[in-house]
Amino acid sequence: MDINHDLDRDIPVIDWEPHLAERTKSMESSAIRELLKFAQDPEIISFAGGLPAPDLFPIREVEEACIYVAREQGMKALQYSATEGYYPLKQYLADSMHKYGIPATPENVLLTNGSQQALDLIGKIFIDPGRFVLTGRPTYLGAIQAWRTYQGKFHTMRLDDGGMVVEEVGRAYEKVVQDSGRPPAYIYVLPNFHNPAGTTLSLERRIQLAEIATKLDLVVVEDDPYGQLRFEGEFITPICNLIPERTIYLGTFSKILAPGLRLGWIVCSESLMKRLIQAKQGCDLHTGTFVQYVANDICQRGILKPHIKKLIAVYKERRDTMLDALTEFWPEGCQWTDPEGGLFLWARVPESIDTERFLKEKALKEKVAFVPGIHFYPNQDGGTNAMRLNFTYAPPEVIVEGIRRLGIALKKELGQK
Ligand SMILES: Cc1ncc(COP(=O)(O)O)c(C=O)c1O
Repeated sequence: MDINHDLDRDIPVIDWEPHLAERTKSMESSAIRELLKFAQDPEIISFAGGLPAPDLFPIREVEEACIYVAREQGMKALQYSATEGYYPLKQYLADSMHKYGIPATPENVLLTNGSQQALDLIGKIFIDPGRFVLTGRPTYLGAIQAWRTYQGKFHTMRLDDGGMVVEEVGRAYEKVVQDSGRPPAYIYVLPNFHNPAGTTLSLERRIQLAEIATKLDLVVVEDDPYGQLRFEGEFITPICNLIPERTIYLGTFSKILAPGLRLGWIVCSESLMKRLIQAKQGCDLHTGTFVQYVANDICQRGILKPHIKKLIAVYKERRDTMLDALTEFWPEGCQWTDPEGGLFLWARVPESIDTERFLKEKALKEKVAFVPGIHFYPNQDGGTNAMRLNFTYAPPEVIVEGIRRLGIALKKELGQK
């Protein structure tokens, strides 16, 4: 073969598909990532992404922490480090998890590249092709995406205003055993300010779930990115407090500090931790050392707690603004959840409207984006007249304008004035 020295030449495109693994066929791009492309258009009012308010990022504090870490700890912070994570940060997280009601020591904590990596690692160690996961419908899109990659299947349970209908778990478990000859790998629960539904699982249901899980020897994955963003109402103890031996708890800095840091953590029993560490080693050796040092510095300097307080005040106002605007501008026959915290609410429009089509043909033309409900149903068996609305990213006046535009478009669809 001749060597072609023209490095700017056109390189032919080959078909990669026949080269790829069988499981790669089950991978799909995330609808949210695709939609975020639209959200880049400055003209679009986006309620689509799960984005925190960028105007509230503690930029100066992060800058100070970066300078401090580079100057004072640079030789360690820029080096490879332990897969488990930076010990002082593990210690801090174990202490703060303790105060949050979770029995944890640093040995139970594993730092990850965001909770999304935790979901992937869990899929990697639990899911054989065709294995079922129990979850609610709707459920978090990123988990569906991560576990499809491992050729997992989903058996879903209904959600109502009180979160997942836990009474259905026993029957769902039996059905999975019947259909696949194996118990489900685990049950995936979003206990606080559910993404996308905005609901919170009551204490009674958490206790009931803990009892059922114990009886069935079922593993619980408790994904809790929003629990610390409670605007009102009483704190409810995590499932991980009730059954720590069988719960894999996921936390993240994404919504309480900044998602760009890509820093999350898993709390679970030490014996399972070993497996997760092995899975993570093959993936990325360890979470970025520098970022862990920076986050640790921010935590140790006591910046996080007042920052969360500030987030709560601003996000509560934005939620209220969205709720008021929905009441003012949306047509009869629409309903929405009233979350006590978090980033999202879930709206239902009359059944005649398919929200996926409405987004493409109407809402985007009005320069407003949201995520159509169907994407949160792993078996595509619902959500066609629902949508997820994020209320934290846009400032209040923009929220009002976006909801007003959607309201006008919905009324047109329904032939109302
Ligand atoms: C329920 C849930 N789990 C996990 C994640 C992933 O978060 P992270 O940024 O920590 O990877 C998100 C992000 O929106 C989420 O809503």
